[in-house]
Amino acid sequence: MAEKDGNKTAKDYGIGIPSPKQTFHVKGMDNVDWGMKNRLSRIFHPKSGHTVMLAFDHGYIMGSTAGLERLDLVIPPLVPYIDVLMATRGALRAAISPSYNKAVALRCSAGSSVLKDDMSTEVIGVNIEDAIRMNASCMAIQTFIGSNGECSSIHNLVRTIDAGNRYGIPTLGVVAVGKEMARTTKYFLLATRMLAEFGAQIIKTYYCDEFEKVTAACPVPIVIAGGKKLPEADALKMAYNAIQEGASGVDMGRNIFQAENSTAMVQAVRAIVHDGETPEKAYDLYNTLKAEK
Ligand code: R5P
Repeated sequence: MAEKDGNKTAKDYGIGIPSPKQTFHVKGMDNVDWGMKNRLSRIFHPKSGHTVMLAFDHGYIMGSTAGLERLDLVIPPLVPYIDVLMATRGALRAAISPSYNKAVALRCSAGSSVLKDDMSTEVIGVNIEDAIRMNASCMAIQTFIGSNGECSSIHNLVRTIDAGNRYGIPTLGVVAVGKEMARTTKYFLLATRMLAEFGAQIIKTYYCDEFEKVTAACPVPIVIAGGKKLPEADALKMAYNAIQEGASGVDMGRNIFQAENSTAMVQAVRAIVHDGETPEKAYDLYNTLKAEK
């Protein structure tokens, strides 16, 4: 068994050395089945290889969240500019039209709320049959590496990966950072790689310093969460840096739906993720679109 202490420091990330050419456009996914590739292609656009996921699953722990008070009013104007709806089954069934031709990242873990100090204990909250019924393109499971709920969250993840592999549905492993854990590069290197080794086909994490090491060491695509609301220019810069440093997209919530103009913001984010726009040009686009409304 590998030891906890006294190990050599990992440092040879081969930054700047491209991965060997793949036949499929999603990192590390050459060897998965047709159905899983088809679902991954709904998430990651075959042309750019990237994705804009709109995260609006916050209610599953936060209840009514600023900017998401009325899902039926807030989400529809954003839909044309995104690739993936990331949400709970309750929100989707009750408030979102099934006629949108968008991929669904279905929130499949549940179990705590913002009322608890320790939010690291969850269960699998959606069974595989319901994920299939919802036509999920992937299933999202929160993990809490280093927290009290570490083992149970890994259990939730691997059980979901097993179920997803049976039916060709990818699992999105979400790196949640417990209150007691620092958001360091070392932490994200550890957590993202662990989730990929467990078999998650997509990893969601936060942006951090030396992010290119995190993406280099993770054999599957990484998407970044936006985190708490930032000034729009800063959020666009973060998205740009993440893509430049190897992220395959964003799974962004508050920095879109809490923006002063959310429809303009989602278009600016999309310009960065899919068109390689600079943050300055994307911010200009944001302001131009905002002025038109
Ligand atoms: C948090 O409860 C959810 O899992 C969100 O999907 C995630 O935090 C991403 O949203 P944001 O960009 O607002 O951090």
